[in-house]
Order: sequence, then C-alpha cells, then structure tokens
Amino acid sequence: MRGRSGHFGPSPSGQSGHNGRLLTEPAPVAARPPVQRVVEVVAARPVGAYVELTLAAPDVAERAEPGQFVAFAVGGPTSAMLLRRSIAIAGAANGAVTVVVAPHGPGSTWLAGLRPGDAVDVVGPLGRPFPLPAPGTPALLVGGGYGAAALVGLAARLRERGSRVVPVVGAASADRLCSVDDLGVLAGIVWITTDDGSEGRQGLVTVAVEEQLPDAGVVYACGPMPMLRAVADLATAAGVPSYVAVEEAMACGIGVCMTCVLPVVGSDGRTRFARSCTEGPVFGGDRVRFADVGRLRPDVVGADAMGVVAP
Ligand SMILES: Cc1cc2nc3c(=O)[nH]c(=O)nc-3n(C[C@H](O)[C@H](O)[C@H](O)COP(=O)(O)OP(=O)(O)OC[C@H]3O[C@@H](n4cnc5c(N)ncnc54)[C@H](O)[C@@H]3O)c2cc1C
Ligand code: FES
Repeated sequence: MRGRSGHFGPSPSGQSGHNGRLLTEPAPVAARPPVQRVVEVVAARPVGAYVELTLAAPDVAERAEPGQFVAFAVGGPTSAMLLRRSIAIAGAANGAVTVVVAPHGPGSTWLAGLRPGDAVDVVGPLGRPFPLPAPGTPALLVGGGYGAAALVGLAARLRERGSRVVPVVGAASADRLCSVDDLGVLAGIVWITTDDGSEGRQGLVTVAVEEQLPDAGVVYACGPMPMLRAVADLATAAGVPSYVAVEEAMACGIGVCMTCVLPVVGSDGRTRFARSCTEGPVFGGDRVRFADVGRLRPDVVGADAMGVVAP
C-alpha cells in the first residue's frame, strides 16, 4: 500500500457530533473487485506471538486498500475445514501481500504453519477500506494486538497526504504487540501500552487515546471489539470522527450467509444489520451499536417482521 496515491471517498471532516449528529460517513466501496488465486508463500517469520506471512500475490496486492482483508482456504485440499479464514491485509506492495496471523484455532494454526514455497488459496481484497480524511487532517491510529498490522498501510497513505499520524499500540503483553517498528518509521513516535506493563505504559490503550485525542482530526482503530467500542466512544464524546475495522466471525466472507452482521446506524438515522464482510469491516465508530451486537432490538429495521416487539 505504501507509495500509492489515495482515491478514497467522503471526507469525515467538517461535521460536529456533540449534538447527536453522526460524525462519520459509511466506508466507501472498494475501487476494484476481489480475485481468487492460488499463491506462493515467499516468506514466513515469527513476530512475537504471531507469524508474518508474505505472499506473492500481485493481483491481490495491486487491488488492495488499507482496511481490507483476504480470506484463505485452510487445511489443504482434503481438509474438512470448509470455511475460509479472514485475515486483515497488513501490507501490499511490489506484488506481495503481507498478513500477520495469530495461531488461535485449527485454521489460523494451519496458516501460521505455512512455510516459504507452500501454496495457499486466497480470495481478496475483500471488504471496504478506511475512508481518508481531507489532506493534512491529523490522525490518531489505535491498534490492539495483531490489529495494529492493518494500520501500517493506512499510516503510509495518510503520511503521503500530509497528515500527522500518531499511533497508539496496545496488547496484553510485549510479545503480542505488533507493527511497532513499521509504525514508528512512518510516524516518528508510537505510544505503547501493555496490560501487564511488560512494555510501554501499563494499562489499556484508552489511557493514551484520551491524551492524544485533543490533537486528532480523525481516529482509526483496529483490534478487539471491546477496544473498538471504548475508542469509538471516547472519540465520539470528543466530537472526533472515528472509523473502526471490526472483527466479526465470518463464514462466507462475500455477503451471502449473514453470519457477520451487526447493528449499524444508516444515513437516515435508522439501524439495520450490516454485513461486516461487504459493508464493513470498516464502519464509522459512531454508527456501530456496540452495546447491541449479537442482539435483535425492536428498533432495528426488519425486527418487527421477525416478531420482535418493543416491551
Ligand atoms: C475482517 C477480519 C480480519 C481479521 N484479521 C486477522 C488478522 O489479521 N490476524 C489474525 O490472526 N486473525 C484475524 N482475524 C481473525 C481470524 O479470522 C480468526 O481468528 C480465524 O478465522 C479463526 O479460525 P480458526 O480455525 O483458527 O479458529 P476457530 O475458532 O476454530 O474458528 C472457527 C470459525 O469461527 C470463526 N471465527 C472464530 N474466531 C473468530 C474471530 N475472532 N474473528 C472472526 N471469525 C472467527 C471463523 O469463521 C472460523 O471459520 C480476522 C477476522 C476478520 C473477520
Ligand atoms: S460472512 Fe457471510 S455475509 Fe458476511
């Protein structure tokens, strides 16, 4: 993603938000459709608790925009693991796509075990990218765990457009911090927090976010859902637009199955279930009803047709 010129849509600047108005626009549709390719792993290296994979995937790389993800077929041709596994794009340049994998269950553990020379089936880039602000808007980037990797390409794009970029990176412990060096090169400074104090300041990223918010014109966040909610709430309370890349469990990854839905406020002020694979994963932080994720509230469009009524 570094070195490419930006061509994103609506600017989030110029809106207020203290008065209940939404501060953000929906994320723009990606400029180019995804492709499916069988690609070669050209590098695999441990990065703390994670594995960084570099794939020779020029058709994916040239289409990728910050905030998008890829979906891998896992387990090999005879695997019973039918569902693809979604992984955020950490970098896309010179025909290569980089991802950071946290070995978790069987699918991600299989991915993390890939070695140079292995082939893997990938679909991407999927989802909507981060909208970019007006050139020069100072940006606060907040990454939790491996979520920080997805912010590196965004930081590069923002710097190209003259934005001051301030990254805040947090994790449970030092070995779960990610992309600190890459973000440091781009931004000149990285604020670090760890839950156990093994690196940076002890505590949650929100401590650093609160300190940096007064200088921010826009906030971007990628990481665990509770972190996204906390960061979005702080930004909205301060009247700063925020964009979050959510990580909802996915099945098809292409908008068919409705596994990945979450309640999102639309431009008309009404809440609908949005598919995080196709209408996300990037959403306005003040548009996601975090408290209602996983619930069907009566005011959600279509809830009455499903027999849900207000108490
Ligand atoms: C947009 C997006 C970006 C992501 N980026 C990354 C990344 O950069 N690095 C990384 O390591 N992981 C990332 N994840 C999470 C990753 O997709 C899951 O950890 C992985 O699918 C779990 O599969 P598994 O077989 O290892 O575990 P299992 O728990 O056995 O997974 C079984 C199924 O549950 C679903 N699932 C389970 N946990 C998650 C989860 N946390 N998020 C979404 N689906 C889940 C998957 O669809 C999977 O098919 C991302 C997820 C999404 C949606
Ligand atoms: S994962 Fe199937 S609709 Fe999003």
